[in-house]
Amino acid sequence: MTETININLGKRSYPIYVGEHLLTNGDLFEKHISNKKVAIVTNETISPLYLQKISKTFKDINKEIIPIILPDGEAFKNFETLNLIYDELLKNRANRQISLVALGGGVVGDITGFAAATFMRGVDFIQIPTTLLSQVDSSVGGKTGINHQLGKNMIGAFYQPKCVIADISLLATLPDNHLSAGLAEVIKYGLIRDFSFFEWLEKNINGIMKRDSKLLINAVICSCKNKADIVESDEFESNIRAILNLGHTFGHAIETATGYGKWLHGEAIGIGMVMAAHLSEQMGWLKKEEYQRIKSLIVSSNLPINPPEISKKDFLDLMQLDKKTKDDQINLVLQQGIGKAILTSDYDEEKLHNTLLKKSF
Ligand code: NAD
Ligand code: GLY
Repeated sequence: MTETININLGKRSYPIYVGEHLLTNGDLFEKHISNKKVAIVTNETISPLYLQKISKTFKDINKEIIPIILPDGEAFKNFETLNLIYDELLKNRANRQISLVALGGGVVGDITGFAAATFMRGVDFIQIPTTLLSQVDSSVGGKTGINHQLGKNMIGAFYQPKCVIADISLLATLPDNHLSAGLAEVIKYGLIRDFSFFEWLEKNINGIMKRDSKLLINAVICSCKNKADIVESDEFESNIRAILNLGHTFGHAIETATGYGKWLHGEAIGIGMVMAAHLSEQMGWLKKEEYQRIKSLIVSSNLPINPPEISKKDFLDLMQLDKKTKDDQINLVLQQGIGKAILTSDYDEEKLHNTLLKKSF
């Protein structure tokens, strides 16, 4: 059974398909790719696993394929790699009648989406997310971009795909630490707006860790529904969409300070969510027992909860770079109980410093 979640954004609306064995479903691709030429952008790890399979599906529906294989890793989410995509497109005489297909995790998805947004001022693209993190978060909602040496995701564009095809079968080859990293973003939805999903995750975390496909499908569907709701009400992040950044101001600082790729994005976000919960608890907005429940679910997902060695000054400098900073004031997404998050600058700075100085949570 394939579930479809529609994301309603007027002319930019699109479906998210969640199911199994979708890579061989030519009808699905035909429905959303009208161009004859298709550039499949993927990376060195994913191409030996899935490129042949998807290429056959495209050939069966008479598409002409340009495979573009990028180096693997967060450290390559940059201008040089983006340029490799433009080079290949131009060498293959691509014009506006090309569709890009992002076959990969969040790195491939973000960079391919940005290439699609900018190549010849915008061409069609679809997302085929292959990690849990990309199925529940990065492939949905149209944030595309690359990192700058001085800050995560600093260069980018809002650009929506024509559809998202989340094939849970692809998660069979995903390494365990990347399954955990994806769970950080899954837990995020429970924390920011969906208490009953949080409770469901508490009950089912062991089965999810064992990759029970029914549980994984439900986790992806609930996450995508939550994300679709938020993006529908605030596509360009003027207000409410910012809550999707729970833990990210801390987490992005960790990723930038340690060098991209040292900590997985989801790992850094898991720690960031614990830090946000700790500050919320100090503010009296989260009960001690709720803070413990949050930590315990993150630990059960096999995620780290303690940050690497970063000085308070470096943390603060990097957190200042966050896109939510206004008039030099760091805005943070914090918890008001489990299932409710707020974007606020109305926290006690000394309490923030306590959180940044804490080595063990
Ligand atoms: P990733 O893209 O680096 O993928 C993780 C690793 O798993 C890579 O080594 C990849 O090659 C490998 N891999 C992918 N699919 C696989 C499969 N099915 N089997 C085996 N190996 C597989 O990391 P990610 O966690 O998917 O994404 C993180 C990125 O997403 C970060 O750059 C982050 O900033 C971005 N992100 C973007 C948004 C957004 O809204 N655009 C949201 C969240 C995160
Ligand atoms: N991952 C944050 C967002 O899509 O807004």
